[in-house]
Amino acid sequence: MESLLIKGGVPLRGEVTISGAKNAALPIMAATLLTREPCVIRHVPALSDVKFMGEILTRLGAQVRFKGDTVQVQARHIKGTGDYDLVRRMRGSICIMGPLLGRLKKATVSLPGGCVIGARPINLHLKGFCALGAKVVIENGYVHASAKRLAGTAMFLGGRAGSTVLGTANVMMAAVLAEGVTVIESAACEPEIVDLADFLKAMGAKIAGAGSPTITINGVRELHGAEHEVIPDRIEAATFAIATAATNGEVTLHGVRTDHLGAVLDKLKDAGVRIDHNGASLAIRRSGKLRPVDITTLPYSGFPTDAQAQMMALMAITPGVSIITERIFESRFMHVSELMRLGAQIEIEGPSAIVKGGKPLSGAPVMASDLRASAALVIAGLAARGTTQINRVYHLDRGYETIDSKLRALGARIERIGRE
Ligand code: EPZ
Repeated sequence: MESLLIKGGVPLRGEVTISGAKNAALPIMAATLLTREPCVIRHVPALSDVKFMGEILTRLGAQVRFKGDTVQVQARHIKGTGDYDLVRRMRGSICIMGPLLGRLKKATVSLPGGCVIGARPINLHLKGFCALGAKVVIENGYVHASAKRLAGTAMFLGGRAGSTVLGTANVMMAAVLAEGVTVIESAACEPEIVDLADFLKAMGAKIAGAGSPTITINGVRELHGAEHEVIPDRIEAATFAIATAATNGEVTLHGVRTDHLGAVLDKLKDAGVRIDHNGASLAIRRSGKLRPVDITTLPYSGFPTDAQAQMMALMAITPGVSIITERIFESRFMHVSELMRLGAQIEIEGPSAIVKGGKPLSGAPVMASDLRASAALVIAGLAARGTTQINRVYHLDRGYETIDSKLRALGARIERIGRE
């Protein structure tokens, strides 16, 4: 297994271009199953999760061709059963269920199961499918959904932590080919949902309200092929902005949708970071001493849970006390124990982590546990004195396109080492 070796203490300087958004690319690739015609998706990040989704679509019978940051998909003839092992290994692939149900009126996918950050139930996905008229059966680790016909209806998709992103995506992709009008209340408002709706509309779907809590879909008989460019990854942008602040560097991020980063930029400004906007570029540097900030993660447009761990790494080196409360997932503090190995002073009180920042961090061997926790460890390693070795770096490769080469280009002393 590969590891990252980081010699910390070097301020990041220079320019970096943000890649396409993983969490938009995955559902958009799944949406190509809704038509037998060819689709072209550009600005797709070169990530293991994206390659994996390509593998899943291929196993379903689609033709998938990657060329640089473009993927061409044509799902002329497809079967309704996702490959058990593949789907089980990447829970994001649950979003093939909606398009399979929409196109074939049947879908069989392995139950995605939980992960380190939480149980990750799919009850709201299934509630939406049933509301559209599907029969859902769970047996032998698979979930089967089937329907003679899908009929549009009104439904409420809010759950224990508010809206569901992939639940909204899944139900929207089934509803676009249902008969009649579907109204999704308490829909997710994330930019990735808007991007998916834009792609579906380019395919001929009739969708209004994407980006708001109420999405209205007028079902159509069929969809045609389309081309689409995926939005920039707001979480990658947040990660590089936070890393710049943590290393007291000066970096310009290019190819950013600043309108997707409101909550993150607001918190960074409160924390003493200067952000200069210039179109799709953001110039980041400290505006003076760092200041502690309190954060609560919320559904969009609140502070994103996917940037929580990265902010905790920044607060660990910020003099003062900050309280970070995770309201979306039930156990998204796996990075805390590893940050403490680097010298961070953090106490967990229920859904909150109390970070007593200011003591310099010192490098140590640490273990990556999930995608964003790994990013937090990279940020902490970049800011720490001495050398940090981050093991199980495959977690990072799932969501960050060549993060080590992007960081090296900004002056970081970071290298990838294979395990003997
Ligand atoms: C998406 O996951 C993202 N993944 C996650 O990013 C992100 O953290 C999450 O949205 C929240 O923004 C992809 O888009 C591939 P949810 P998703 O359904 O859709 C509960 C990353 O790091 N819930 O919005 O699976 C759930 O338990 C990943 O890139 C139900 O109760 O998340 C959670 O507490 C990690 N029942 C909350 O809702 C359901 O049926 C939000 O989950 C579905 C969800």
